[in-house]
Amino acid sequence: VHEVEIDKLLDKMTLEEKVGQMTLFTSDWDVTGPTIRKGYEADIKSGRLGAIFNAHTADYNRRLQKIAVEETRLGIPLLFGYDVIHGYRTIFPIPLAEAGSFNPAAAEESARIAARESAAAGLHWTFAPMVDIARDPRWGRVMEGAGEDVYLGNVMGAARVRGFQGDDLADPFTLLACAKHFAAYGAAQAGRDYHTVDISERVLHDIYLPPFKAVLDAGAATFMTSFNELDGVPATANEHLLTEILREDWGFMGFVVTDYTSINEMIPHGIAKDEAEAGLLAVNAGVDMDMQGAVFYNNLRKQVENGEVAMKMIDDAVRRVLRMKFALGLFDDPYRYSDSEREKANILTPAHREAARRIARESMILLKNDNETLPLSKNLKRIAVIGSLADSGADMIGAWHADGRAEDVVTLLTGLKEALGSAVKVDFVDVDAIKGTDRKGFDEALKAARSADAVILALGETWEMSGEAASRADIGLPGVQDQLVEELSQTGKPFVAVLFNGRPLAIPELDKKAAAILEAWFPGTEAGHAIADLLFGDDAPSAKVPLTFPRSVGQVPVFYAAKNTGRPRNPNEKYTSKYLDEENSPLYPFGYGLTYTTFSYGDPVADKTEMNRNGKVKILTTVTNTGKRTGTEVVQLYVRDLAGSVTRPLRELKAFQRVELSAGESKTVSFELTAEDLSFYRRDMTFGPEAGEYQVFVGGDSRAEKSVTITFK
Ligand code: IFM
Repeated sequence: VHEVEIDKLLDKMTLEEKVGQMTLFTSDWDVTGPTIRKGYEADIKSGRLGAIFNAHTADYNRRLQKIAVEETRLGIPLLFGYDVIHGYRTIFPIPLAEAGSFNPAAAEESARIAARESAAAGLHWTFAPMVDIARDPRWGRVMEGAGEDVYLGNVMGAARVRGFQGDDLADPFTLLACAKHFAAYGAAQAGRDYHTVDISERVLHDIYLPPFKAVLDAGAATFMTSFNELDGVPATANEHLLTEILREDWGFMGFVVTDYTSINEMIPHGIAKDEAEAGLLAVNAGVDMDMQGAVFYNNLRKQVENGEVAMKMIDDAVRRVLRMKFALGLFDDPYRYSDSEREKANILTPAHREAARRIARESMILLKNDNETLPLSKNLKRIAVIGSLADSGADMIGAWHADGRAEDVVTLLTGLKEALGSAVKVDFVDVDAIKGTDRKGFDEALKAARSADAVILALGETWEMSGEAASRADIGLPGVQDQLVEELSQTGKPFVAVLFNGRPLAIPELDKKAAAILEAWFPGTEAGHAIADLLFGDDAPSAKVPLTFPRSVGQVPVFYAAKNTGRPRNPNEKYTSKYLDEENSPLYPFGYGLTYTTFSYGDPVADKTEMNRNGKVKILTTVTNTGKRTGTEVVQLYVRDLAGSVTRPLRELKAFQRVELSAGESKTVSFELTAEDLSFYRRDMTFGPEAGEYQVFVGGDSRAEKSVTITFK
């Protein structure tokens, strides 16, 4: 739409100004990487800087924008980016938790609210969604994605893009989305952040790329390269990824930004001898914008002048960046996102808080509930609340909390007190068993537990224990929390564990000892309200596990869509695929989650047993609420290809539906399967279905047993 204006602008720009549009520097407001560059205001003034990140609020960004617009030769407005990952000021549950809601509408709504707040606070661009499939909970960044599953990842990623970008980027309440990290960052060896990735082309295409394609189809405006190498080539220098797949095969028209200094990091990767060479590799691979590395800034002009880089490469990259600035309306009004009155009116509103509370409720998983321990009655006299996390607002908003503030958070303690009113005595014991190394505070906690009618134990990780550069080799409860659990269980008093964490934890002992476990993740600003709503039964949990909980770290990676092997586990046969000292099965499998009622499933029925290329098969199942309360079930459909030209996973999620049922009610749930759902990268790397039998399972988690078989002809 703006191509003519862009042509005119390109004609006027010097080479240095063009390179400026390919440069992104951080402000010194927030720190999200290893380097900070002083003097970015002078860079803006010189016309050599086109975009800034980590600067926010309407006033601050207006001040920087004014320099670009009024003090540079061409007055090209700046683009402001920020990591708005799960909310700007109103913080929503971490994306992994939201994925567990199996409710894309919730992810879309939280992204839309995040966009509304950020766009009012001077921002144009979020570095989200992260659509990295991740199957290793040691990796701290699992908190930012949708977990282990390709289909869930596709659906949730696309929903977030729709939420951030809306239908029209010219709407000043929207943000540019950024699909990251392209690609396969989640496959880092041993779950160690930034580590080597070495996967087959087939796994890349079957598992790691589909969510990127899904968000591109949803309109994602920008892509970010990943830090990792892939088959020996860092993603930032990877022409196969950035040019062949992204632009040529998929037709991506937006721009590609690097991750923080990832061009410079090609030197330690061992693929470039110096920054100049690293920059050449990046620009030639298809990178349009250098985040924070100043490699383009320092080298690109010379490299164009001496013929190492074609001027056309530069013009194409600058065009892609300018296109987004035009689409956002910045050339019409560079300050349209920097209005402090609008900011005040749109930040942390009651409606945003209400949505955060509802979505947090939908994102929490009931992992265990013996003897209907939950919901708790409100007619208690005395309740013990144990654990420092229970009153820690900073922890409840988790990592990547943008402008989220601890003081805005309704903590678990506050939420419980509010729900119970003054007639109930709440004994809070602020014992820090996470950072603590001894029994300090234990005796007081045990005493409070002994005299309480109900005991709530807040356990888990602090917020810095997940996120970027926060991998853990031991994914049990950190500190002396296991000891606290053990001593509490010795009292014989049943207790409810509420978990705050950014990754699945290996908690077999807690599973044995707690009467009930609610996985709250990092639930955001409305944490305490949402948890209290569930604990006291004002609402019922409905989320499911989006990333498998192992029994022990030695099982990792353990995920439901594994292959069968030639010697599937048989406990009675020595020479089968198993551990001597551990089960193969996880503690809580993908798709699992309880609620305050129970469901039963009828046998799935197919309306036809055969499908062809353009055909469709309807799968119907009856689900019945067999308990005494209304509840929501996530009905899940999995497919297994029984014999392919290459080995296929034991099952793969292909559809799901959230269904609410009142006590005793039955509903027929219907799914439609197409040839696309049976497709994969075949032996010859073409994508499609194969003739043969497919088993279709329907149930309440990835272990669903009831199935029907269809044949693809
Ligand atoms: O957006 C992030 C990225 O995910 C990891 N490195 C830093 C970037 C900017 O903050």
